Amino acid sequence: MCGIVGYIGKKEKKEILLDGLQDLEYRGYDSAGIAVVEGKSLQNFKAVGKLTNLREKTRNYHSEGFGAAIGHTRWATHGKPTELNAHPHMGQYSYVVHNGIIENYQALKKELAAEGVTFLSQTDTETIVHLFEQYHQASNDPFGAFEQTVKRLEGAYAILLVSEADPDAIFFAKNGSPMLIGFDGEEIYFASSDTPIIGKAKEVYYLEDGDYGYVKEGKVHLFNQSGAKSYSTQPLPTDKALAQKDGYRFFMEKEIYEQSRVMGETMMGRVLEDGIRFEELNDHLFEGINAIKICACGTSYHSALASSYLFERIAKIRCDVEIASEFRHKEPLLTNDTLFITISQSGETADTLEALKMAKRAGLRSLSICNVDNSSIVRESDATLLTRAGIEKGVASTKAFATQTMVLWMLSLWIAQQRNTIETDRLREELDAMLHTPKALIVTDALHDRIHRLSKRYLHGHGFFFIGRDLFFPLALEGALKLKEISYLHAEGYPAGEMKHGPIALADSELFTIALMPASLLYDKVKSNVEELSARDATILAISPRPFDLADDFIQTQYDSHPMLEFFEMMVVTQLLALEISIRLGNDVDMPRNLAKSVTVE
Ligand code: M6R
Repeated sequence: MCGIVGYIGKKEKKEILLDGLQDLEYRGYDSAGIAVVEGKSLQNFKAVGKLTNLREKTRNYHSEGFGAAIGHTRWATHGKPTELNAHPHMGQYSYVVHNGIIENYQALKKELAAEGVTFLSQTDTETIVHLFEQYHQASNDPFGAFEQTVKRLEGAYAILLVSEADPDAIFFAKNGSPMLIGFDGEEIYFASSDTPIIGKAKEVYYLEDGDYGYVKEGKVHLFNQSGAKSYSTQPLPTDKALAQKDGYRFFMEKEIYEQSRVMGETMMGRVLEDGIRFEELNDHLFEGINAIKICACGTSYHSALASSYLFERIAKIRCDVEIASEFRHKEPLLTNDTLFITISQSGETADTLEALKMAKRAGLRSLSICNVDNSSIVRESDATLLTRAGIEKGVASTKAFATQTMVLWMLSLWIAQQRNTIETDRLREELDAMLHTPKALIVTDALHDRIHRLSKRYLHGHGFFFIGRDLFFPLALEGALKLKEISYLHAEGYPAGEMKHGPIALADSELFTIALMPASLLYDKVKSNVEELSARDATILAISPRPFDLADDFIQTQYDSHPMLEFFEMMVVTQLLALEISIRLGNDVDMPRNLAKSVTVE
């Protein structure tokens, strides 16, 4: 769970690396580092914390002329976030950066230590550079040594290595962690995702698992276990500008405001007057399917959970949802009349990707709902529905959740059409509600201002309960996750009807209850649950289109006739509440502590 950038060519290398790492900082920001090799000179800089510390440290360093350079931004897995554990890791005359986990690193370390190698860091990565140098010293063949090294590695990795042994080359390998090569004539770039090389490279090759090789004299020499391999490039996307902050204080804030617009894109060409069309899906995907299983993590899991109500209610198909990290190790019973759906914003979440591979091995057909085209999960799936949310930079996911949920809602209707489980009038109602969704997502000044003002009353206490029923239970889980991620306050999402079975014991005036009370779904039931809490003096913030006398604070929503419109409108309220509380607490909204945007380790 780290970001990697590499460059070989004649341009100033420091700026290319630092700018690239800036774009990847969402992948991890415990520390960052760069290494540059120019002829016989190897330079290396590292700094703990955000990239700005590395910028400061390299202020007086410039690297003109031909050379090879690699950079890394880290999210710690093995070893604390210290400078010694920061990448690039150093041998005697080589440097390596790595994203992933070398699972057999302890065995390798033992072997190297027995041969007299001293380790400076606690990382799994450092074994790679020492292994390379051991093989190189024995063979005097840099690429041969790299090839031998790669063959010894078990686990997931994207690796770049530079060495004085061959100063005009960058060695690379990819297995299970993302990496691509960008081309602009003889200038060659590496990165963990498109963003750092947009505007620099023109063409791209997305490395596949098992690929390794080296770049030299403007050429890529590519191999896999069958030997030399050819590859073809494709044009690189050009929409980097969309990833700028546009005057908002934080990317998360910008992304909350963007939801209304991107939802239009999610629906474009898919929501028609008389039904749902997915050009990406053919009817065979669904032939013989009697059940759906969805696997995902975090926010994507909440979206999955919400959709399970829709699949069963609208498409009349059984739907089970599992947290990917649990699913992977439970020896699940899988039958091939089940469509296996994965949901992932990044498309790189290791647990979700592995769950998908398991399902494929069991012979299931797979569909991914993803925001990043060409990501590992997309490439692994039989079919994909892209969410079209655009780059999401805030670690706390917002527009990805909204668009995932919309795609899943559309999919429930698409399946209902295939299975003839929906009446024409009901279908029209759903389509009509979908088309109103962008309106339900608009953030008005009045709403934002109100939430900003009342947020000051929610900065303390001994915890938050977000409660809701039915579809609004997953939304409660998501509201609580948003708040805890960026405010560091304890928050739980709970089914409103379940409070009386235990958690109500916590109720007192310092327990903040955020009650999701839609008018169109189980209003009276939720109301009784909230009354029970109010009777125990819990502080209630009610979100509802219907005024509620017992609320200490009240946010009145507009929509009251369709559960999904209420869902999306209340989603925005919970996102803004988390945002405003986090800002008041002085936290870094976009890069909350201990988290990373893309979790590419188990
Ligand atoms: O990229 P993915 O959707 O697969 O990521 C899954 C989770 O790591 C992610 O949703 C995480 O929970 C977010 N930080 C939530 O805001």
